[in-house]
Amino acid sequence: MLSFVRRGTRLQGKQLAAWERLSGRYLMDVPRGDGETSVDPAARLDAAALFGRRAPLIVEIGAGLGDAVVAAAAAAPETDFIALDVYRPGLSDLMRKADRAGATNIRVIEANAPEVFGTLLRPGSVDEVWMFFPDPWPKKRHHKRRLVSPSFADLVARVLRPGGRWRLATDWEEYAEQMRETLGGVAAFAPANDGADGFAPRFAGRIETGFERKGIAAGRIIRDLTYVRR
Ligand SMILES: C[S@@+](CC[C@H](N)C(=O)[O-])C[C@H]1O[C@@H](n2cnc3c(N)ncnc32)[C@H](O)[C@@H]1O
Repeated sequence: MLSFVRRGTRLQGKQLAAWERLSGRYLMDVPRGDGETSVDPAARLDAAALFGRRAPLIVEIGAGLGDAVVAAAAAAPETDFIALDVYRPGLSDLMRKADRAGATNIRVIEANAPEVFGTLLRPGSVDEVWMFFPDPWPKKRHHKRRLVSPSFADLVARVLRPGGRWRLATDWEEYAEQMRETLGGVAAFAPANDGADGFAPRFAGRIETGFERKGIAAGRIIRDLTYVRR
């Protein structure tokens, strides 16, 4: 079951021009399996080769239009960032923002997160995983599409180093509770949700995106969650 329904991949105008100009610099060429967002299970990511250095590595799942990851990368030039999404127009905007910010510490992967975490990323190779506002799939019959599940948690645990953090945020209360319940039952993770409300304090490294602003405008409460890899 995929966590997304793929929207248009055809780029036009500025997005097409940015894709053509900037892919060579930012986009990782992913060996594919079956399908255009798939990953060849035999492929492995060599972060040192990708970035030309060894540095702490943060992977953002579902980077969307890229605002959070570009701001974070510009603020932390000593850390490397991989932005992951299946939404090509968003990735094109992200690359444009990275270029404008002069960020050399970002690479983009256009692929399905469970496959990237299942095989492409090496075990214990990642310092932090970020997942901000994953699609909430509010209808009950769609809940099975949600990315946060015990099996996906195992894949995140596989790639995080001991002591590494998985940071999540959502504006969907019932998904926040599902995340807390699901991840609280995963032995590989120690919860660090030490805010007064039983969630984590707002992560200071997370800027407010348009997506978050819409949630707030609609009267929703934003929840942060944090888990430490044991
Ligand atoms: C609701 S948006 C949030 C975007 C961004 N994090 C923000 O806060 O504005 C969720 C994003 O997750 C991406 N996504 C959903 N399922 C995915 C998957 N299996 N692999 C990679 N990206 C995925 C979607 O394409 C979308 O861009």
